[in-house]
Amino acid sequence: MNISKTALAISLKFNALRKQQHIQHLIPYEIHQYYESVIFWHSNSRLFSPIKNLFINTLLRFDEMLLPGDLHHIIFRKLSVYTLTKAYLKHNPDGQIVVLGSGFDHLAWIFANQHPCFELDVLPVIRQKQAMIKQERERLYFIEWDANNDRLIETLNSCKHYNSQLPTLFITEGLIDYLDRNVIRNLAASIKTLNPKNEWLSTHFDREELAFNHRISFELGVRLAGEKLTKNVDTTEFAKLCSSKSFHIKHKIYSNDRVISKANGQPMSHMKGCSVLHLN
Ligand SMILES: C[S@@+](CC[C@H](N)C(=O)[O-])C[C@H]1O[C@@H](n2cnc3c(N)ncnc32)[C@H](O)[C@@H]1O
Repeated sequence: MNISKTALAISLKFNALRKQQHIQHLIPYEIHQYYESVIFWHSNSRLFSPIKNLFINTLLRFDEMLLPGDLHHIIFRKLSVYTLTKAYLKHNPDGQIVVLGSGFDHLAWIFANQHPCFELDVLPVIRQKQAMIKQERERLYFIEWDANNDRLIETLNSCKHYNSQLPTLFITEGLIDYLDRNVIRNLAASIKTLNPKNEWLSTHFDREELAFNHRISFELGVRLAGEKLTKNVDTTEFAKLCSSKSFHIKHKIYSNDRVISKANGQPMSHMKGCSVLHLN
């Protein structure tokens, strides 16, 4: 199994976006700090830098052409998940977070300076992530986990730092698209079994709402990256699957609700059908 190219692409895109002048001020300092402390590229030579910038800018331009609204969606979901997680931990000062399918995201690294944070992903991603982080965090724990083969309860309980009695927020950002219905149902049941008070933040993408050509771009892009999406579970079906395991939507944010301006002051294009759900 290789590292997730979609996870890497999201981080590279977000890292480039956060540095753009009109976006920089929207991003909290600690998020900038994470990206400054991660090694994405092993060469920082003067010759390499323009090539790297050209590559990233071309990637962003292509991305916006093939899937308009994708860049807005990345900023929207990163900021929403960060804000909701921060609010949860403020209300639960003794709380912890578990990020499932964490990829190369910043969230756990940021909050691990005060709270136990667990990043679960498949082994190649975990290994790569550990190698990328220059500045270690004492309360950041990496755990190998494959949603299709490993039981979440046993995986977490086998980590001596995980305490199921603490208030816990589970986070699935960009993961649900890769899981089939049974796995999602089992995940919901496991999170509740670990502790009925556990809460869950999850990002969603109703692919039916995309224009036909944009949907093809998205699905083909993931396939070219060597990854396999499952048949789309839309937000309504997801809520139904979770309610069968006693999870209910507490809060829902749509990406359309957040306007982000481009460098020329015009609003960035939105992508329909993207939301962040908070369940308890
Ligand atoms: C689209 S990426 C999202 C990464 C990150 N959460 C973010 O939003 O930046 C999907 C992530 O889910 C992970 N993933 C996919 N299938 C998985 C599975 N069966 N078990 C565990 N992780 C999985 C991938 O390795 C990848 O890191």
